[in-house]
Amino acid sequence: MKKLAPSILSADFAALAEDVAAIEKGGADLIHVDVMDGHFVPNISFGADVMKSLEGRTKLPFDVHLMIENPDDYLEDFVTPQTEYITVHAEACTHLNRTIQHIKSLGVKAGVSLNPATSLSVLDYIVEDVDMVLLMSVNPGFGGQKFIPSVLEKTRELAEVRRAEGLDFEIEIDGGATLDNVQEIVSAGVDIVVAGSAVFKAPDIEERTKEFVSKIVNV
Ligand code: DX5
Ligand code: ZN
Repeated sequence: MKKLAPSILSADFAALAEDVAAIEKGGADLIHVDVMDGHFVPNISFGADVMKSLEGRTKLPFDVHLMIENPDDYLEDFVTPQTEYITVHAEACTHLNRTIQHIKSLGVKAGVSLNPATSLSVLDYIVEDVDMVLLMSVNPGFGGQKFIPSVLEKTRELAEVRRAEGLDFEIEIDGGATLDNVQEIVSAGVDIVVAGSAVFKAPDIEERTKEFVSKIVNV
């Protein structure tokens, strides 16, 4: 089953609960939570308290994407009964294996993310330990950027690694997804599609979510 994870980075922060209710009604599977620290990426978004303000206001699980330095210092803050995934960047982790084990020890699924220019080879000695690999299809830091097409080939290569090694981690793509390219993205082997501006900047968020979901299920 393919999943849609709208990113609340592009939501109206003053109406966050309403925006999230709209994606839930539209059939989204996860809430993608983009956390930026102004160091690892050139932007600051929000922290765990904003995410926690949604607890109980929605049934959708949290898909936490930490674009921060020293993620180990903050992992516990993001663990709630609704947290399904916590993803860290390989580029931000000196001891990636330790960080992945730390996430798992907290009882949530562990993801590792790679920037567009980071080679899949960084996964060689960790891929068996992760529940999810998040491939960035824009340079992280901002919503509303253009999809980087070379990530499609990278996705196909990663899906082939998964098949050849008999692994079952999920593959997520993040950045620049639109109604026009989402089927090509899913066809490359993606399980979870993040969409921020294409969902939350739409005139009707619930309707746009439904359009994304129907495109994804019909690949
Ligand atoms: C980028 C974030 C993305 C972003 C996606 O740093 O990780 O999740 O919000 O937004 P769109 O879909 O607008 O590219
Ligand atoms: Zn993200």
